[in-house]
This record gives sequence, C-alpha cells and structure tokens, in this order.
Amino acid sequence: MFKRSIISGVGHYVPDNVVKNDDLAQRMDTNNEWIVERTGIEERRHVVPGSDDTTATMGTKAAKIAIERAGLQPDDIEFIIFATLSPDYYFPGPGVQVQEQLGLAKEIGALDVRNQCSGFVYSMSVADQFIKTGMYKHILVIGSELHSGGLDMTTRGRGVSVIFGDGAGAVVMSASDDPNRGILSTHLHSEGRHAKELALEGPNTRDWVPAIIARNDPEDTSFYPYMNGNFVFKHAVVRFMEVINEALAANQLQSTDLKLLIPHQANLRISQYIQQKMQLRDDQVYNNIMRYGNTTAATIPIALSEAWEAGLIQKGDLVMFAAFGSGFTWASAVMRW
Ligand code: UT7
Repeated sequence: MFKRSIISGVGHYVPDNVVKNDDLAQRMDTNNEWIVERTGIEERRHVVPGSDDTTATMGTKAAKIAIERAGLQPDDIEFIIFATLSPDYYFPGPGVQVQEQLGLAKEIGALDVRNQCSGFVYSMSVADQFIKTGMYKHILVIGSELHSGGLDMTTRGRGVSVIFGDGAGAVVMSASDDPNRGILSTHLHSEGRHAKELALEGPNTRDWVPAIIARNDPEDTSFYPYMNGNFVFKHAVVRFMEVINEALAANQLQSTDLKLLIPHQANLRISQYIQQKMQLRDDQVYNNIMRYGNTTAATIPIALSEAWEAGLIQKGDLVMFAAFGSGFTWASAVMRW
C-alpha cells in the first residue's frame, strides 16, 4: 500500500528590510503607479548587505520553523530538497549548507532543484515520489531566493528589478497512512525552446568571469536576468490554466471544490486572470505579491506558510499549487490537507 505525502509543517522567513516602490524610484526611473498597476507589487524585502541572510541561511531559518511546527527534531529529517535560482555558491547548491546549518548529526542526502519559479512545485513532486515508495518518511522541501544582490538597479533593468524580492519558505513533507489526505497528483511540464525569454545567461563556462572583465563592456548585461515580459505573461496565463485544469481533471474535481489556490506570485494580474477564468471567489485564491514581490522558488511556500498561519487551511481542505516561469517550466500539485 502506497503512503500518502502530507505537509506536516510550514514556515517562512523574509528579511526585515522593506523596500517600497518609492524607494526604488530614488534609484531608477520608475514610479509607484506603474509598478502597482502593472504588477500589484507595493513593496518587497531585500536582505541587508553584510547581514547573515543568504539564500541558504534564509532557507534554514524557514526550515527550522517548519520542522518545529511538524513536531519534529531536525534529525528526524531524512532528505533535503532545495529549490533556488540564486544559490550562495555557483556550486555546490545550498541543500548541503542546510544539512550543516541545521546541525544534523546524520549525513542525509541533499538535492538541489533548478526549476526557477516552478522549482518548489517540482520539488514537492520529487518528495512525493520518495514518500509514496516508502524510501523516506520526512523530507524537508525549501524554496529560497536572494535576488536583490544580482539585479540591475538602474533604469536599464527596471522591467525586471522592480519585480523580484528576497525570502524563503519551507515545508516538511511526511508519510501518512491516511488515504483521505496528502498529495493527490503532481503535473510537470517544460518547453525549452523559450529558455532565453526569461534567463540569466552569464557568466557561463563558455564566457567566464575573466573574459567578461576583459571586455569591460558597460553595455554587457549578460549577468543580469533578462525577461521578455509580454511574451512570458502571455504564455503564463495559458499554461497556468492548463496545468490547473489538468490537476483537477486527473482527480475528477471541479474548481468549486478548491478551498485554496496558491499560485506562484509572478504578477497580481496573472493571478486575477486565473481567478476570473476559473470563477473563483477572492477567498479561494491566496496572493501576497503586494508585500513581497516575486520571490521565484519561494513564493509558494511563503504564501502557504502565511495562509496556514492565518487559519485559511484546515485538515481535509483541497489545496492547489501552480507555477509557471523560466525554462519555460510549469507545474501543479493538488492535495487534501
Ligand atoms: O515569475 C516568472 C514568470 N514571470 C512572469 O510571469 C512575468 C510576466 N510578465 C509581466 O508580469 C509583465 O510583462 C511585466 C510586469 C514584466 C511588464 O509589464 P508590461 O505591462 O508587459 O509592460 P511592458 O514591458 O510592455 O512595458 C510597458 C512600458 C514600456 O515603455 P514604452 O516602451 O511603452 O514607452 C517600458 O519601458 O513600461 C516601461 N517600463 C517601466 N516604466 C516604469 C518597464 N518597466 C518599468 C518600470 N517603471 N519599472
């Protein structure tokens, strides 16, 4: 008999430093009205340079909360999955840092996932497979990003840099014998021909740091994220709908059955479009992009942690997660809490 994967604990951590739209307008040609109207974002968090906040340490802080809420000790964790596009090191990925920072006595496995905005849902899917087959009982799944240090904070980069923020979320996924709870299904997709439409191409090992320095080209933006915003937006709204409907159909469910949809927080307009198309009420869709911007792999676990803290999710509730982003990759997961 397969086990079911439940979420036994949730946690999140965001840096204290609140950066308002008006603060960004001091640094580049942008304004509060444009950002709010186009994205819904009012503020985001940026780590304070020199603080101990990194992608790995923020992930560990969120993880500690999730582990405690699961009623577990760190050494009960049997496997770590860490989703990020902004690791502390080029390699190794931050999964191993969490193994150390949690002070684990055991040398458990640590896996890093690179699927950007859909990285957390992909990671949940991986954890679900390990739990279903009985390989692990408790898996730590983290999404964390430190974007602020790598953004072009000049007017040239404004189409991207006003959108992204820093933060981390984590869950503990645990094995359950209750057939009425847990992940019902996950659905993963990619379309690599659009990889360059939302990407950070340099430095890469064909164009490494010394070559970039030697060129000394002030127009070189290869080491800043690039996003073809309109193009990404148009694909996002289609793929979000497809992958949510795929999850509903796979489980003979209707959108009216959903207690909560937690979409990746890329743009409030995308979430509102999905809500309207699916005819969901306001209380069925959780959004917090207004306060954190887009934290890529961290948006879903941060939103989940906040929604849980607010008492919006109770045992037995049907919860849907869906994400779309760089790759392109997109994914959904539907679960009975
Ligand atoms: O998380 C991964 C997935 N990501 C997404 O799903 C993001 C999808 N895309 C988007 O959310 C939107 O495309 C953006 C929010 C990125 C951009 O919104 P948009 O409505 O597509 O704006 P745009 O890029 O077409 O730019 C419109 C205008 C341009 O000026 P002109 O050419 O019309 O004169 C931009 O230069 O807005 C200008 N602009 C800005 N103005 C003030 C771009 N960024 C800014 C800015 N402040 N920050």
